[in-house]
Amino acid sequence: MLRHGPQSYAKPTPPERKQSRRSGPGFARSARRSVAKDDADRLGTLHGSNMNARQPLLALCMAATLLTGAAAVARGGVDWAFPTVGSAAALTPKPARLMTLRGSRARYTRSEIESGFLAIDWWPESHAALPAVVRHGRPPDVLACGYCHLPDGEGRPENAALAGLTTKYMLEQLRDIRSGAHKGVHRAWLPSAVMDQVARAVTTGETSAAAAYFSRRRFLGRTRVVEAAEIPTVVPEAFVYRRLAGSRRETLGERIVETPDDFYRFELRDSTVGYTAYVPPGSIARGRELVSSGDRGRVPACAMCHGAGLRGSADVPPLAGRSPTQLFRQLAAFHARTRHGAHDTPMLIEAAPMSTADMIAIVAYLASLKP
Ligand code: HEC
Ligand code: HEC
Repeated sequence: MLRHGPQSYAKPTPPERKQSRRSGPGFARSARRSVAKDDADRLGTLHGSNMNARQPLLALCMAATLLTGAAAVARGGVDWAFPTVGSAAALTPKPARLMTLRGSRARYTRSEIESGFLAIDWWPESHAALPAVVRHGRPPDVLACGYCHLPDGEGRPENAALAGLTTKYMLEQLRDIRSGAHKGVHRAWLPSAVMDQVARAVTTGETSAAAAYFSRRRFLGRTRVVEAAEIPTVVPEAFVYRRLAGSRRETLGERIVETPDDFYRFELRDSTVGYTAYVPPGSIARGRELVSSGDRGRVPACAMCHGAGLRGSADVPPLAGRSPTQLFRQLAAFHARTRHGAHDTPMLIEAAPMSTADMIAIVAYLASLKP
């Protein structure tokens, strides 16, 4: 059985694949040992967008990925929660071009923005000095925490907000991610695959510094939840959805589509960009009902552990106002038991009876709450 461990990543990139390297988030390019690249291809392969008959190994990876038991079963029908890289051009074809953002005095070149070993910090006055691992990471395997989770810990829909989590909770998650007890249902999905790589490579000194820093940040939340049957046409890009220009619409169906309100600022990794999360009509009320009744009395109500307003209690994490797509991926992982750390037992019980529609409704409601 093919493992998703470092050995299967360490394969060098064949030259003909280098040319077809698509533009995409920088960490795909920068993770030195082609760790990320390999997974990007595997992901592309899974989604049928990068199939290449000359790559039997990739086909094998795909078969292995599809056959990993519960994960594959649970993933059926929830691929929308794992948007791909997409094929659109990146910021600008000129790597040395200086990028600016209105209101900020910072300047970054495109290659800095995409490097993965620098937290792109447009608003340095809004937070305390960043610990080295948050700001720069440590090449080749530890990408900067602030690159993905953003310098203020607000996170992005393809990862997680760390602001407002306790140090203890974060350290536990890092341990579980490293040990394999905290996995997504879609293991090859690049953001999680790179997080796995980081968790395996960080030192305890680095994780303590990062967790201490992020635990002192207050989570603000920037997602607006909108119920709609029809939504603007979107394409997956950079692991979220991008709204296409024009007035075309598409049917939402049983999905959450979370999309940056300003894609340019999103690509520049501006932490102040807002998001709209489209959810099916009626989700919020249905979610409120499930959350407060504990799935119609079948399981304890969420607030019993997650605190008043679902804002967290001791080391039970806050849920209010967080990215609904990220919350959904967590519920799906509990449901499929790919996340099963020592403290996850209550969540395995909670998530077991949930249908996909239940999870969508629950996270729509959670995301609509004030943090
Ligand atoms: C490539 C982007 C990326 C980088 C770099 C990164 N992370 Fe993550 N991180 C993620 C993703 C994606 C997740 C969500 C994983 C999942 O699906 O559960 C995550 C999850 C976490 C969690 C769990 C949060 C929760 O609510 O359960 C912690 C804690 C964390 N990261 C800490 C760190 C630290 C500390 C660093 C730097 C040493 C770091 N991350 C670097 C992408 C990243
Ligand atoms: C009996 C206590 C308990 C109840 C009830 C409970 N939870 Fe949890 N929940 C936890 C604990 C503890 C964790 C953290 C587990 C860990 O440390 O990995 C958690 C984690 C989570 C997470 C992951 C958050 C993250 O940042 O990754 C989500 C999402 C979640 N719960 C949602 C819910 C929802 C929705 C309900 C109600 C349907 C609920 N929980 C009810 C105890 C509970």
